[in-house]
Amino acid sequence: MAFSHNFFLFVCLLLSISISPSIALTSSRPKALVLPVSKDSSTQQYLAQLNQRTPFVPVKLTLHLGGQFIWVDCEQGYVSSSYKPARCRSAQCSIAGSKSCGECTSSRRPGCNNDTCSLLPDNPVIKTATIGELAQDVVSIQSTDGKNPGRAVSVPQFLFACGKAFLLEALANGVKGIAGLGRTRISLPSQFSAAFSFDRKFAICLSSSTRANGVVFFGDGPYVLLPGKDVSQSLIYTPLILNPVSTAAATFAGDPSAEYFIGVNSIKINGNAVKLNTSLLSINKQGFGGTKISTVNPYTVMETSIYNAVIQAFIKEVKNIPRVAVIAPFGACFNSTFIGSTRVGPAVPQIDLVLQSSNVFWRIFGANSMVQVKSDVLCLGFVDGGFYTRTSIVIGGYQLEDNLLQFDLAKSKLGFTSSLLFQQTTCANFNFTSN
Ligand SMILES: *[C@@H]1O[C@H](CO)[C@@H](O)[C@H](O)[C@H]1NC(C)=O
Ligand SMILES: *[C@@H]1O[C@H](CO)[C@@H](O)[C@H](O)[C@H]1NC(C)=O
Ligand SMILES: *[C@@H]1O[C@H](CO)[C@@H](O)[C@H](O)[C@H]1NC(C)=O
Ligand SMILES: *[C@@H]1O[C@H](CO)[C@@H](O)[C@H](O)[C@H]1NC(C)=O
Repeated sequence: MAFSHNFFLFVCLLLSISISPSIALTSSRPKALVLPVSKDSSTQQYLAQLNQRTPFVPVKLTLHLGGQFIWVDCEQGYVSSSYKPARCRSAQCSIAGSKSCGECTSSRRPGCNNDTCSLLPDNPVIKTATIGELAQDVVSIQSTDGKNPGRAVSVPQFLFACGKAFLLEALANGVKGIAGLGRTRISLPSQFSAAFSFDRKFAICLSSSTRANGVVFFGDGPYVLLPGKDVSQSLIYTPLILNPVSTAAATFAGDPSAEYFIGVNSIKINGNAVKLNTSLLSINKQGFGGTKISTVNPYTVMETSIYNAVIQAFIKEVKNIPRVAVIAPFGACFNSTFIGSTRVGPAVPQIDLVLQSSNVFWRIFGANSMVQVKSDVLCLGFVDGGFYTRTSIVIGGYQLEDNLLQFDLAKSKLGFTSSLLFQQTTCANFNFTSN
């Protein structure tokens, strides 16, 4: 009796010892995380910096909304005492969806170990991929209450792939890899949500300025931008669509796309529908067609017939504004001295991407449609993607700036605000001063 009583006490003690750290963890577990995002002026890529490795080093990465995972160059200067390759047939390999397992013939280092599974890191700018070891290492990031950054938190075993130095081609100066936010189990949002048990949601808000940072939030709102506006309150929702065929440069057969597609059903300019071949707007069995959102395309890219129809319809709506010689890569340019300005940019016809019903649309105002190419020239910021494009419409970075987009992975829906300039704030207005 006494024995069992003591035993019971002992078990309780053990339990309390093992439970209390996790209680401490729970009470201080972050509800959301925040990452500043800069815009690189020479490549127009959006860059984020994470602390990784032991000891921590800042690692600059190009943000890729539809990227499958993080990959970094492990060939040059990867030094870390906490680097661990993922062994073949481990849980890590299975979570990452790796379908390959291998040996490495050169000397052992991060990125080159035997009996490890691998992934296919890709560079979406040059559309090239390589094979790279799956590994884990510690990553640290700041928590947030939605208003300011809070203390830094870390994920000790963050999964990523090892890329190679050649794969950094065409990425911004100083960048060491790609930060993928796509719809996979090992993308940044998925791993952060799993590590801290918060909602499988994240939001991006890209700044239009190369001098002021935009922001990515991991987790649910509030997302507060100065002067004290919680922009998560003004979201309009549309379903996210799964493209069943991968759109990456290389993938394992049968993998769906990690990119975010939405259902654009028509395009209206000044309220008038543009005549389009609507079959291009849906995704066919081979994964062609449809509309995706991309942070690695600086401007929206449209399949030629859609592009021509949109350009012609736009020109028709602004026939009183003098056109000037086009400046590549754009196809319609105007003398800006004849264009007025509004709170939401140059006073030009609104372009509506009409979604699941006629009253749900993503309205593009002048600030997101017109690009100042010279002091007196504004061009429509869309580019021609050619015929037979893989994806008919790729909504690019310029059209996303100063719009907040929230991706809800559990409910597979996108929330968007349209231009924040209407709400008298911008994506550069998150208060990055810690409190
Ligand atoms: C992997 O194993 C092979 C064969 O046993 C060996 O020759 C090679 O050096 C090993 N590579 C590493 C990186 O350990
Ligand atoms: C519309 O696009 C589809 C898919 O590319 C193509 O097969 C069809 O011929 C096009 N229709 C017209 C009228 O151009
Ligand atoms: C734009 O219009 C102004 C005023 O008419 C003119 O001086 C200027 O040269 C024009 N710019 C271009 C690029 O045509
Ligand atoms: C930004 O946050 C800090 C810390 O809470 C605060 O002291 C400061 O006043 C805020 N800045 C603005 C412009 O509100």
